[in-house]
Amino acid sequence: MVKGGRRLEGEVTVSGSKNSSLPILAATILTQGLNTITSVPDLLDIQTMLRMLRSLNIRAEYSQPHTVRVWVNHYIKHVAPYELVTKMRASFFIIGPLLAKTGFAKIPLPGGCAIGSRPVDIHLKGLQALGADVELEHGFVKVQARKLKGDRILLDFPSVGATETIMMAATLAEGETLIENAAREPEITDLADYLNKCGAQISGAGSEQIKILGVKELKASDHNVIPDRIEAGTLMVAAAISRGNILIKNVNVAHVDSTILKLQQSGVTVEVKGDQVRVKASHRPKAVDIKTQPYPGFPTDMQPQLAALMSLAEGTSVISEGVFENRFMHVHELKRMGADIRLEGQSAIVNGVAKLQGAPVKSRDLRAGAALMLAGLGAEGETLIEDIDRFIERGYEKLDKKLIALGAEIKELRNIAEYEDEDNA
Ligand code: EPZ
Repeated sequence: MVKGGRRLEGEVTVSGSKNSSLPILAATILTQGLNTITSVPDLLDIQTMLRMLRSLNIRAEYSQPHTVRVWVNHYIKHVAPYELVTKMRASFFIIGPLLAKTGFAKIPLPGGCAIGSRPVDIHLKGLQALGADVELEHGFVKVQARKLKGDRILLDFPSVGATETIMMAATLAEGETLIENAAREPEITDLADYLNKCGAQISGAGSEQIKILGVKELKASDHNVIPDRIEAGTLMVAAAISRGNILIKNVNVAHVDSTILKLQQSGVTVEVKGDQVRVKASHRPKAVDIKTQPYPGFPTDMQPQLAALMSLAEGTSVISEGVFENRFMHVHELKRMGADIRLEGQSAIVNGVAKLQGAPVKSRDLRAGAALMLAGLGAEGETLIEDIDRFIERGYEKLDKKLIALGAEIKELRNIAEYEDEDNA
């Protein structure tokens, strides 16, 4: 339950990156020994990945808040349990490391989700190029290879996950692998940094061409995960939409460049000082156009949050989604709150309105859930968001508590009945 109308003020610290932690935890499968990964956010998705590793006979747990220890030094199972992969698409990340380490992997084919069909064809074509046999049977992907051999691989699309899968598998392949049209997201650079600490020979991560020289084995190592650039961007929008004034700490500013630029273009004050960003707004934002693209373009994971802000902007904003085929589910919910948005193919035409009204809404993916929370902050009255455990809490560490500490009025209701009671009170 989010009550609108409060200006957010104070300081908040960004947690470690979910989308960097997940592939790095999967990559520990490639190593021998004890890995200590720090700044891992405490999220449901991370818990799922730890359960996935444990299901492979690997010991993996939070040894203290934000620190995960993964021991890899005995027989690893090859088959990942169906219910874990369907719970979280990112579990598919283990296919590359498992294949490279053991020569075999059997992983359920991830289903689609609210934002699109999310195929894995680019991952599988990459593994085939490294010499793996790939079979699809009964909803499982079976990959096997006596020994992977390096090759030049040109990706159809700069897919983040596929770049990570191929890069991880190539670390133990024979010879050199060249990934062309690679994704350039910071999480890929962070993964490469961790793997190189383990003895891998990766160069070019962060550019569209990554070179991997295969090595015999990788040793476990320690790694501190980069800050979560999407959480940072989400908190910036929270300051803008509530016309507040907050200091956001632990930000890798280079990773949120495009979001800072868009907020500044819309009239929000954003001041950068080292790894801290102060965001202030005192009036309605001006409408700006958004086009999501692979990094370093504007991130698709920030599109729902900007759609919420543009719903209250002065003027008309055209928001084009260039990465996923169906990432406008939040638009229908924002319209229930009074937003004036029209969908045309891969674009949303947002005519800003002066006021949004609180309303009961549903979130379909974790960034849409966050966007609806932000819309609730900027709306009049109360907004009830259902299923936050299935979405918001999967991808944000205590986002509600962070916003409450900044002055937001947010309550977690055990069930809807409580809300109706409130209503009748
Ligand atoms: C990663 O997903 C992120 N997840 C997503 O964040 C993020 O939205 C996405 O990258 C894009 O930045 C994690 O890192 C765990 P892609 P990923 O492969 O790797 C198509 C969040 O909210 N594609 O770059 O699955 C695909 O359908 C999540 O934290 C293929 O066609 O994204 C999509 O249209 C949501 N074939 C586009 O590429 C493939 O084999 C981008 O997908 C793979 C992808």
